[in-house]
Amino acid sequence: MLLVGATSYIGRHVANILVEQLYRPVCPLRSMNPKFAQQMKLNPEQTPIGDLKNKSSVNNVFAKYPNLCAVISCVASRTGGIRDSWLVDFELNINILTGAKSFNINNFILLSTICVQKPMLNFQWAKLAFEKKLQSSGLDYTIVRPTAFFKSLAGQIKRVQNGKKVILFDDGNRTSTKPISERDLAIFLVQCIYNKNRKNKILSIGGPGPVRTQKELGEIIFKLLNRSPKYFHMPSRFFKIIAILLTALGLISTKIRDKAEFLRIAYYYATEFMLFLDQKIKRYSAEKTMEVGNDTIEDFYKKS
Ligand SMILES: NC(=O)c1ccc[n+]([C@@H]2O[C@H](COP(=O)([O-])OP(=O)(O)OC[C@H]3O[C@@H](n4cnc5c(N)ncnc54)[C@H](OP(=O)(O)O)[C@@H]3O)[C@@H](O)[C@H]2O)c1
Repeated sequence: MLLVGATSYIGRHVANILVEQLYRPVCPLRSMNPKFAQQMKLNPEQTPIGDLKNKSSVNNVFAKYPNLCAVISCVASRTGGIRDSWLVDFELNINILTGAKSFNINNFILLSTICVQKPMLNFQWAKLAFEKKLQSSGLDYTIVRPTAFFKSLAGQIKRVQNGKKVILFDDGNRTSTKPISERDLAIFLVQCIYNKNRKNKILSIGGPGPVRTQKELGEIIFKLLNRSPKYFHMPSRFFKIIAILLTALGLISTKIRDKAEFLRIAYYYATEFMLFLDQKIKRYSAEKTMEVGNDTIEDFYKKS
């Protein structure tokens, strides 16, 4: 197995599951990371170093491991900046796909995101552009588009533990999701290697539910910590207005263009559901968001 992006939040869990299931993952890294190799119980041979944005480094990896049976890609821009998203979510994945094709590896599993269903941001367009290339590559593929990760909903716990309010966008009921745990997602990705029913499909998946609004997630935290609910309501249009102002200034600086993009990302998450989008009726559907795994957000909050 070639696991690209093994150092990512989800990639680490995928590496663990692969090792647990007796695969021998090869996890290319862009710089030395002995701690990572040790934690994942990988030997140095399984963690070749190379810049995967460079085609010859990618080919070196494939050439060195002629028995690879599949690729799982968990790479993603760490910043969400405009240029970085295109360089990583699109170009780096293209390099891996081209390498896989040249070395006859006919199975590509891509970790994408559910929000590409309604693209409005550069990282979403970059991911979608790669999804399209993968679909037309002739390789067997599975594209997994998960809802929100538990970690993305964890920030509020510390706030409440420190006596602070939970921050809600608008009234906290505008959006909802069925969050998924990193382990459940990692298990699902690994199952895709041999699950024929998942071949050549795009799968939008969430955790076991139920669907929760931001406010309901806040209520769970207050209940678990035995505190009375206190909320700070942040108007989502704040992000939109500042983004519009910065977009004009972005003409003179890439940094400002990225700042405007980050605000658009915040606005998107404040206003869009992280659920399956039924394109026929143009509505998000909790029922049609496939439920995967057993881990619940309550249990995650309890352990946090
Ligand atoms: N957060 C959520 O709630 C959520 C929900 C649904 C889907 N997703 C999607 O899930 C995916 C993974 O997210 P994550 O939070 O697990 O990712 P992450 O922790 O930010 O990790 C990104 C990975 O990509 C690698 N990478 C980034 N730039 C690179 C470069 N220039 N060259 C080589 N490798 C590079 C990183 O390597 P280094 O360690 O070397 O930096 C790391 O392994 C993303 O596509 C995201 O959109 C996220």
